[in-house]
Amino acid sequence: SRVKEVEFVKSSARARDCPKDNKPEFAILGRSNVGKSSLINALVRKKEVALTSKKPGKTQLINHFLVNKSWYIVDLPGYGFAKASETARMDWSSFTKGYFINRDTLVAVLLLVDASVPPQKIDLDCANWLGRNNIPLTFVFTKCDKMKVSKGKRPDENIRDFQQLIRQNYKVHPSWIMTSSVTGLGRDELLLHMSQLRNY
Ligand code: GTP
Ligand code: MG
Repeated sequence: SRVKEVEFVKSSARARDCPKDNKPEFAILGRSNVGKSSLINALVRKKEVALTSKKPGKTQLINHFLVNKSWYIVDLPGYGFAKASETARMDWSSFTKGYFINRDTLVAVLLLVDASVPPQKIDLDCANWLGRNNIPLTFVFTKCDKMKVSKGKRPDENIRDFQQLIRQNYKVHPSWIMTSSVTGLGRDELLLHMSQLRNY
């Protein structure tokens, strides 16, 4: 499960513009600012393979990165960006949903969930939507390095609350991994998990 080489391939505005070479791929999905682009950089140990920003809404297209010339990791625009216009949000859902439904080479979605905040309805809704559409899903909790903020809960407590809500809605419950792009927590576990899924 080692990463030897990563190459940015292309940005696509629509599902039908994505690469057509039939390599297995993993999509990185989650709220704006959850740390999708940062996770990709941490996985491949490159600073700015995927562009990151403190401001939400940085990633606007479907970005394909080819790893070891054999599989793709895909950076997607975030959902739930409060400042986005209604039309932009509608566009997000139609274009991203189109991608999920039509992408035959999709091995699994890595749904990123911010462990530094309490469970968010939009993340639970997203998990339910993927589940209903039989799209394989792994939860990846991000920002696990963040210490307790004033009156908030700790990452492990937020994760426990999230899992509890998922268990109430799911019959089978997806695997999950705790990560931090700052400390590298979960990197090896996630790479191993992806290699196991690819080899099924
Ligand atoms: P969009 O492209 O806007 O949807 O955002 P994104 O999900 O790609 O988030 P991005 O990777 O750009 O990171 C957003 C902010 O969170 C940046 O300021 C990152 O430095 C920070 N961040 C990301 N991952 C972590 C993490 O594991 N720990 C901490 N402490 N901060 C993180
Ligand atoms: Mg991004």
